Amino acid sequence: MPGTVRKAIFPVGGLGTRFLPATKSMPKEMLPVVDKPLIQYAVEEAANAGIEEFIFVTGRGKSAIEDHFDHAYELQALLETRGKKSPLELVKASIPNPGQIAYIRQQEPLGLGHAVWCARNFVGSEPVAILLADDLIHVEPGCLKQMIDTYKTVGGNMLALAEVSSEDVSSYGIIEPEEEDGDTLVKVKGLVEKPNISDAPSNLAIIGRYILQPQIFETLNSFELGAGGEIQLTDAIARQIGDEPLYGFRFKGQRFDCGSQVGFLEANISLALDRPELKTSIVDFLKKISRT
Ligand code: UTP
Repeated sequence: MPGTVRKAIFPVGGLGTRFLPATKSMPKEMLPVVDKPLIQYAVEEAANAGIEEFIFVTGRGKSAIEDHFDHAYELQALLETRGKKSPLELVKASIPNPGQIAYIRQQEPLGLGHAVWCARNFVGSEPVAILLADDLIHVEPGCLKQMIDTYKTVGGNMLALAEVSSEDVSSYGIIEPEEEDGDTLVKVKGLVEKPNISDAPSNLAIIGRYILQPQIFETLNSFELGAGGEIQLTDAIARQIGDEPLYGFRFKGQRFDCGSQVGFLEANISLALDRPELKTSIVDFLKKISRT
């Protein structure tokens, strides 16, 4: 029986260059969608999937993330004194229990594979989930819960998949399916990182949710940390095919690529439209600007 997935890694050590200058002194993962930072959506998705330990791989300039998941005593005291109950509840709700959250520093942003490798001693010999906060997946139950429910019966390594247009395949890791039958679960026989349209084995792209066996750390161990070179997680996962079954998972729900400006703006509009107190104003505004 597959081991229980209790731990999750949140790699947040990237530079976020596509959001400069906003990300010059502020982590990309703290950008808000409506009124909640991207990283909080990911942490809530993990908690709702049964994750008990939250491991952040951070980097320079990311301390706002640590502060966000901690008490803000002055603010809390002020809200309490002023009787602002519901903002106070919101502020407190983001704080995990003591000992549930750990931070590891990735001293140099050498790539996603390197960020994950930095968490090896905190994960040990258990399977682990990995969530990239810039992929916001809006659905109930959340994407990771959907994956873990399926993982419990099949085990192995698992990646979330989304269909992308042929112009976009060169921006993603693309899977080579064993057979293309449109099922939720897709057995994977190969992975290609950012292929040309002509070389892409499918249009199924790897999205920022993974469940991996701990052997991934041994595979990542042998990767050379080339100066300035990026260490790709997909290369390490691809190397495990044959030793460990690899599944792609077509999740239900809408995914926004909040690492890009367009995806981030779409997420804000879409999630605002889902909020009854905001919907009418947003619809009116969209109608108004679409006329001009
Ligand atoms: P991205 O590929 O989006 O890179 O990383 P980035 O640096 O965050 O953003 P751009 O492309 O410069 O705008 C995907 C995820 O992997 C993390 C990022 O924080 C993000 O969550 N990451 C990436 C690391 O933790 N460390 C790295 O060395 C690279």
